[in-house]
Amino acid sequence: MRKKVTVVGAGNVGATVAQRIAERHYADVVLLDIVEGMPQGKALDLMQSGPIEGYDSHLTRTQNYEDSDVVVVTSGLPRKPGMSRDDLLFANMDIIKKVTTEVVRTSPKAIMVMISNPLDAMTQLAFHISKFPKNRVMGMAGVLDSARFRTFIAMELDVSVEDVQALVLGGHGDSMVPLPRFTTVAGVPITELLDHQTIARLVDRTRNGGAEIVGLLKTGSAFYAPAASAVQMVDSIMLDKKRVLPCCCYLEGEYGIRDLYVGVPAKLGASGVEKVLELKLDPKELVELQNSAKSVKELVDKMISKVG
Ligand code: LAC
Repeated sequence: MRKKVTVVGAGNVGATVAQRIAERHYADVVLLDIVEGMPQGKALDLMQSGPIEGYDSHLTRTQNYEDSDVVVVTSGLPRKPGMSRDDLLFANMDIIKKVTTEVVRTSPKAIMVMISNPLDAMTQLAFHISKFPKNRVMGMAGVLDSARFRTFIAMELDVSVEDVQALVLGGHGDSMVPLPRFTTVAGVPITELLDHQTIARLVDRTRNGGAEIVGLLKTGSAFYAPAASAVQMVDSIMLDKKRVLPCCCYLEGEYGIRDLYVGVPAKLGASGVEKVLELKLDPKELVELQNSAKSVKELVDKMISKVG
């Protein structure tokens, strides 16, 4: 039987995730939404691109959850201009609670990849509600934030994005931690290629990367790059590639952070998060990461007191 990936939420992010997965041939896709007709319409449309793009992936369009290997959760409200991701906490909390309960009921062995915002808090909530082991619940954000940083560096230096590797850790919010020392162009750290001010400008643009797009779109937030980022994680899990990607993982003492979901480099394979990599951060980098974790913790505490 073919493997199955469920995508919860058939908005822009969900539909783009479904499209990219269908085009990869390795799984059937279940596209779900509470809005009657939307997942049906989008899945049918995607299936009809199969003969042209040459994929046989079957897209189930439904309001019902099905047993799946991986569940990508995109449900929730996006930001409006001027809003921070954190402003979505209470609105999206109830949605993620319901979605997670359904995932546990129908896909008790699934690996969950969260995309809903505020990302780190929603991932923590899914972990809390599902009671899945920590390796089976993770969040997408580090890949996206790093991809934004890579894009801006490539634009600045006029080099191929393929040769730029970047690392952005911490929460997916204003306190995220781009790490220039671990960001390279063909192996050369950018600290040797760009001056301090330029790096600071690109770091700042990365931190505001999501808001920049929200401001331009006016309704809704970014979706191509968020979807591509989540699919890179799904690839690594479904194909057991063991890629090392920055993603939102549960920490139990790593980097001095405990019982909290924060963005760190992790190895993703068939069992989900197979290992969290602990980099040797310098004191300033470590403080920035811990401060970012503190902001996530404040949000999580607000949320958990309501959820119980
Ligand atoms: C962004 C949203 C998806 O960063 O958080 O664009």
